[in-house]
Amino acid sequence: MQDTKFANLFRPLKIGDVELKNRAIFPPISTNFADENGHLTEKFVNHYVRRAKGVVALIIVENSCIDCPEAKKGAFQPAIDSYDFFDDWENFTRQVHKYDAKISVELAHPGFSERNVDSVSDEKIEKIIEQYANSAEIAKNAGFDMVEIQGAHGLLVNQFLSPFTNHRKDKWGKSTAFAITIREKIAERCGENFPVTIRLAVDDLKTGGIDEKLGREIAHAIADAGYDMIQADIGLGPKEKRLEPMPYPEGWRAYLAQRILPIDVPVAAVGMIRSPEIAENILEDGVDLVALGRTLIADPDWINKIRDGKIELIRKCIGCSECIKARHDEDVAIRCGVNPNVGNEEEITPAKSSKIVAIVGCGPAGLEAAEISAVRGHNVHLFCKQFGGQLNIAAVPPGKEKLRWLIEYFENSLSRFENITIHNGEFGKDDVIAAKPDEIIIATGAKPFAPFTLVEGMTFVYDSVLRGEIEFEGKNLVVAGAGLVGCETANFLADKNKITIVEMLPEIAPGVETITRNHLLNELEQKGVKILSKRKVIDIEMGKVIVENTDTSERDEITCDAIIIATGGKPYVPFTFGEIYHSIIGDAKSVRKIIDATSEGYEVAKSI
Ligand SMILES: Cc1cc2nc3c(=O)[nH]c(=O)nc-3n(C[C@H](O)[C@H](O)[C@H](O)COP(=O)(O)O)c2cc1C
Ligand code: SF4
Repeated sequence: MQDTKFANLFRPLKIGDVELKNRAIFPPISTNFADENGHLTEKFVNHYVRRAKGVVALIIVENSCIDCPEAKKGAFQPAIDSYDFFDDWENFTRQVHKYDAKISVELAHPGFSERNVDSVSDEKIEKIIEQYANSAEIAKNAGFDMVEIQGAHGLLVNQFLSPFTNHRKDKWGKSTAFAITIREKIAERCGENFPVTIRLAVDDLKTGGIDEKLGREIAHAIADAGYDMIQADIGLGPKEKRLEPMPYPEGWRAYLAQRILPIDVPVAAVGMIRSPEIAENILEDGVDLVALGRTLIADPDWINKIRDGKIELIRKCIGCSECIKARHDEDVAIRCGVNPNVGNEEEITPAKSSKIVAIVGCGPAGLEAAEISAVRGHNVHLFCKQFGGQLNIAAVPPGKEKLRWLIEYFENSLSRFENITIHNGEFGKDDVIAAKPDEIIIATGAKPFAPFTLVEGMTFVYDSVLRGEIEFEGKNLVVAGAGLVGCETANFLADKNKITIVEMLPEIAPGVETITRNHLLNELEQKGVKILSKRKVIDIEMGKVIVENTDTSERDEITCDAIIIATGGKPYVPFTFGEIYHSIIGDAKSVRKIIDATSEGYEVAKSI
């Protein structure tokens, strides 16, 4: 039953003459599911169809190329610049329309390498405008309900809009001229009634760029020129503000949408909108639509679950940035830390025969395995010392609270299965055997690894610090290890102590997604944390640590009150089971990330 608390979310709305059944839209998220020639794959289609099944009102397909290969962005960007791609798109819209969602596509030009528009010739400008119109016409003929112009994030339209990148003295020097001419040309080719929306930079968040006043003027000029909906977004400014990492608060940039109200066209807010309550509040405050990007990557059924009164079963995006790492750091197909089904979009089917499955350990790997095993009809025995496993301590450092969402999700989800028995507390091998399992899955996680001899009263391991077993205030501390765990432990301790991080490798927080890493390093810098890389801990004594420079072999003595060991973990497998079949998954197999834990839990449970 739909919860009346969310009445605004389910109110229909018109964009031009196109009626949306609710206020939730899926904004463009580049998936890298297209092929390298810009054609759509089955994976691509399935991904969007799955979001349409989740009852989203409008899907705006990811950034698509209007001039390939010159204006191509990323190795696997879909193309919509010629009728060579028409059949792909026509099939696509047919598939998505089966689920009563409206469909748009983001038409985008990345701009030029010099990142300003001053030297672009008139002829080139006219040509690009024609390309926008041409792509819009292909989209319309292929069955799209509307198109969206990418006018934010520092891409070409944003570059024309912004005084930071547009210093032209000709007619294109008027900031909205380019965007408005695109709108006019699309109307000429597709008719006045074919809606065109815009993802608009209403603030560049950059000195010398679009500010609050100019953003408002631009938005109103854009609405007056016939754009049918505005997604209020960020322009040229830091990437961190538009692909915000985990610590950012929910709905923090809805103010950008509120700021341009009242206005004659619907306005959408975007960014970190994760909870139905936050979405509803934003709508209550007068914004017309909420754009749910990673929210719907993590859980395509977000809206279904609200409609059905099951909000506790929403698997919220935790902001782990694995999708961003895939798309932006690695240029490979996106993946999700909490939704292993992204890209597969498969139905979980019942197993051929129901088995007794014992799962030893209840961190993300074990919990995911338990859920999927239960969905498949197995009888699950979950042996559990602490529900959530290492997520409990991972959620402690500043800005990491969203990790608790995943624990809460599993608590709610697993409690609805009658075929899951949770054995809480200490357990041994005999307890597992007593459940008479046909299959055993070991998901016992990792234990901290300390490569030095510990000195009592001087050395402490990071997990005891994060668990609150030992507290420090006003101390001079060394944290040994600058992987993600070391940096986050340092960040936690730095609120009340003076911290030096010592790391053997040259790089700090290697392998962490770039925006998240920069955010964390910036925070450490602001808190005055000193980082010594290429330093090996040689000796620990009461009151001091001896470190050696790995390049020069020079030794230094660091005076400190304590040293916190955060040099990572080691797989922890307390017992094995001889000939009874078992799989080892997650950190118990090899210490990695949440995404590895959930995906291995998912895969192993699918195979039983
Ligand atoms: C992996 C990834 C790819 C994205 N690709 C696009 C894109 O193609 N075009 C675009 O305008 N925005 C893109 N975005 C930005 C999203 O549309 C959205 O504005 C942003 O993720 C913030 O909303 P959210 O917190 O709901 O995800 C992308 C974001 C992510 C995480
Ligand atoms: S990968 Fe992480 S950030 Fe991206 S949608 Fe999934 S949970 Fe959210």
